[in-house]
Amino acid sequence: MRFSRGFAAAFSLLLVSACNMSGDAGGDAPKVAPILTTEDAKDDQSFAQPELARVTHVDLELDLDFDKQTVSGSAMLDIIAEKGVDIVVLDDDGLKIETITDADGKPLDFTVGEVVEGKGAPLSITMGDAREITITYSASDAAALQWLSPEQTAGGKHPYLLSQGQATLNRTWIPTQDSPGIRQTWAARITAPDELTVVMSGLSEDEPETLDDGRRAFTFEMDKPVAPYLIAIAAGDIVFKELGPRSGVWSEPSMIDAAAAELTDTEAMIDAAEKLYGDYRWGRYDMIVLPPAFPYGGMENPVMTFLTPTFIAGDRSLTGLVAHELAHSWSGNLVTNANWTDSWLNEGVTSYFENRIVEEIYGKKRADQEAALSFAAIEDTLAEVGTDDPGTALHQPVNVDSIGSAIVYDKGAFFLRTVESIVGRDRFDAWLQQWFDNHAFQPATSAMILADMEENLVKDEAEAEQLQLREWIYGTGLPDNVARPDPAAFAEVDAAARAFSDKRKLDTEAWDKWTSAERQRFLAKIPRKLNEAELAGLDEGLKLSASTNNEELFLWLELALQNKYEAAVPTTEQFLARVGRRKFVAPLFEALMDQGAWGQPIAKRIYAKTRASYHSVTQGTVDGLVKG
Ligand code: BES
Ligand code: ZN
Repeated sequence: MRFSRGFAAAFSLLLVSACNMSGDAGGDAPKVAPILTTEDAKDDQSFAQPELARVTHVDLELDLDFDKQTVSGSAMLDIIAEKGVDIVVLDDDGLKIETITDADGKPLDFTVGEVVEGKGAPLSITMGDAREITITYSASDAAALQWLSPEQTAGGKHPYLLSQGQATLNRTWIPTQDSPGIRQTWAARITAPDELTVVMSGLSEDEPETLDDGRRAFTFEMDKPVAPYLIAIAAGDIVFKELGPRSGVWSEPSMIDAAAAELTDTEAMIDAAEKLYGDYRWGRYDMIVLPPAFPYGGMENPVMTFLTPTFIAGDRSLTGLVAHELAHSWSGNLVTNANWTDSWLNEGVTSYFENRIVEEIYGKKRADQEAALSFAAIEDTLAEVGTDDPGTALHQPVNVDSIGSAIVYDKGAFFLRTVESIVGRDRFDAWLQQWFDNHAFQPATSAMILADMEENLVKDEAEAEQLQLREWIYGTGLPDNVARPDPAAFAEVDAAARAFSDKRKLDTEAWDKWTSAERQRFLAKIPRKLNEAELAGLDEGLKLSASTNNEELFLWLELALQNKYEAAVPTTEQFLARVGRRKFVAPLFEALMDQGAWGQPIAKRIYAKTRASYHSVTQGTVDGLVKG
């Protein structure tokens, strides 16, 4: 049905500009994707003016210099512009630009405007009639790039390079319009020392070419228009292992078997995802398991998901991460938030989709338990910031991830679970699949998904009232129709946590049999204040400090540090020296800093040693926590 009133209706008139519109479900991607020109689609974090002139293709020729920790070379850009427009504005964050020329090699004038913290500066190029321009440049302190020393790798012999583009970091090594609503095809030729192998988030058809100077050249192509934050690179002493007909994994040689074993379910996950919401449209699905310095759990770089090694637990208990990054091949990479205020369209929809894949592959019990953990995360955040906080709306008021992931990820997922529970799975799945199909290779906003639900899902006024769609998207807190997780999911473990709380009774045999989700639940539910003897009892009984499951180890260390448990400091120090994943690193430093005269000197001492080993993403957060 259609509601001809209000905000959503005003925006449902999709204003797209020109070119090869794709609305076809199974068809090929358009070479030039449309942009949105509505006010709600505007990206405040980019200087680009795509309605005037925009980049449609990026061709990179870059050399990786590990000694100088510099990438240098050229970026050739294809541009389309409105008639009479002779300036194109790109995003530039610290690039060293040598020359900018047109297709004939004629120099073009350019200016770099004032730097805005975290956003970089506008690079305005006077292009005249030129619609193909070449920028020669280098990038030395690129925040996206992490250059690892050999000691930071498992092999210890060769350096390593990894990138992280989302959200606004790719402008530190690629001169383009770095906005998720401006999709671009791209290609790259990358040269690197011949002992290293280069991978990117594009397909590679050819064997690397061996050059005279002891280097090799690798070529990549992404022929589907993607948001530029999805251009990614890694280079190191890495090998490949096939997992299935269209999937495989890269990692350092010493880790490849463990990585492949943990990723055994990948091909089944792709099949399950396709069965849920339609064809996987990207060709291959490969992954790279990076060194532990990688700042995130995973990053959905197309055809090459980047993964932390900390998800390897030996028992596939943390592979929800893989389901998540795979699901982004639809929510995020195919249909992309037009700007970061609507990142729930990427992360919330993906978290919902992730749980559906987990249900298919591992069954309902595990899926329900993971959903219950996710619901507890929402409740914790709401308890902390209050249900009126504007940041608890799915459509974020500002472009910052200041209150963590529970809103855009978990509340986003519970929004879709709630809709599913009201309309039923069959109708919901058909709706979500058409959403992906009809917006494939295009940006989207909250207003658009709301209008789409109203048009293509909601049956009548009564159902509309029951759904509270607008409340879910724009309101704060949790609407009262939320489909709460099944309380049975953790019945046993919650009883065990109560027994520990009330009588300090610890059932170590039960713990041994629990799933990882159950263990995580237990560690979250037991009292936050424990004394030294109680902590020692927990550690001894549950072998927490020796855990090879990094999620469990992290929860234990956080609890221990919050209680000034001295005996946990050495393990913490080892963990913080080994792992650079922000989700683990930042809360451990925070726990120490919260412990005044006991914890602060420990935090400062450890951070002085480990800071250099972290990616700028992790450094940025921890710098704000560990001061002085
Ligand atoms: N796309 C995100 C990572 C990201 C988000 C990078 C925002 C920069 C800004 C990725 O898909 C993700 O969500 N990773 C999670 C894993 C997950 C299972 C929730 C992570 O890294 O922990
Ligand atoms: Zn994600």
